Amino acid sequence: MRNKLVAGNWKMHGNLKNNSTLLGALIAGLPKPESRIRYAVCVPFPYLASVQDTLQNTHINWGAQNLSQYDKGAYTGEVSADMLNDFGCTYAIVGHSERRMLFGETSQVVAEKYAVAQRAGLVPILCVGETLEQRDSDITEQVIEEQLKAVITLAGVESLTKAVIAYEPVWAIGTGKTATPQQAQDIHQFIRKGIAAQDKGIAENLTILYGGSVKANNSTELFAMPDIDGGLIGGASLIAEDFIAICSAV
Ligand code: PGA
Repeated sequence: MRNKLVAGNWKMHGNLKNNSTLLGALIAGLPKPESRIRYAVCVPFPYLASVQDTLQNTHINWGAQNLSQYDKGAYTGEVSADMLNDFGCTYAIVGHSERRMLFGETSQVVAEKYAVAQRAGLVPILCVGETLEQRDSDITEQVIEEQLKAVITLAGVESLTKAVIAYEPVWAIGTGKTATPQQAQDIHQFIRKGIAAQDKGIAENLTILYGGSVKANNSTELFAMPDIDGGLIGGASLIAEDFIAICSAV
């Protein structure tokens, strides 16, 4: 049995008051998961300290949505992996499509962020996924292969023993258009097979999340697919009731 994870990605949402209400409801409403299941929230940097305060000694983990590819230095506005460690982060999302598309992160930069996160002991949640145009041009697999290759070339296939992959088709993010369970399963299987060609055991144990309009009413069928090991949840992670329902479906 593989490890499973449901991680919320709050994106640039929240404030101290709402966060406290949301986390209070999650703590009260989320039963302690089985040993192979993890729940987490990935929050904006300024809230890490208070989220750490609130969630330590609970069964909810936390993490960041991004980090710098540099260890330290004159990089105004950046946040390092060590800084995330100071606030007890378990996870750091890297290569979210919004970072790739809106902030110009190339697969090479994403790979560097992934490696830096791992060196600091954080678990990178590596996002990969195609745009609608790429899907329509039938190059989904090539796109994902290129995104994964950058990471494997830099950090090695063994690095995947300490990472999570999230398949997030860009056309499904925040659009309400979820991939069908079968569409998602096909790509998850493609990813796992590609890694199995390099190392079977690593592929078998790798946690691969689906992300893109996962909601309370579609999570059960998505998580039932054999290669889907949980979800990366945007919008629905901001609503306690919905996030709890999704966590309970994994
Ligand atoms: P969504 O976002 O659930 O709001 O579609 C998912 C994500 O971007 O990680």
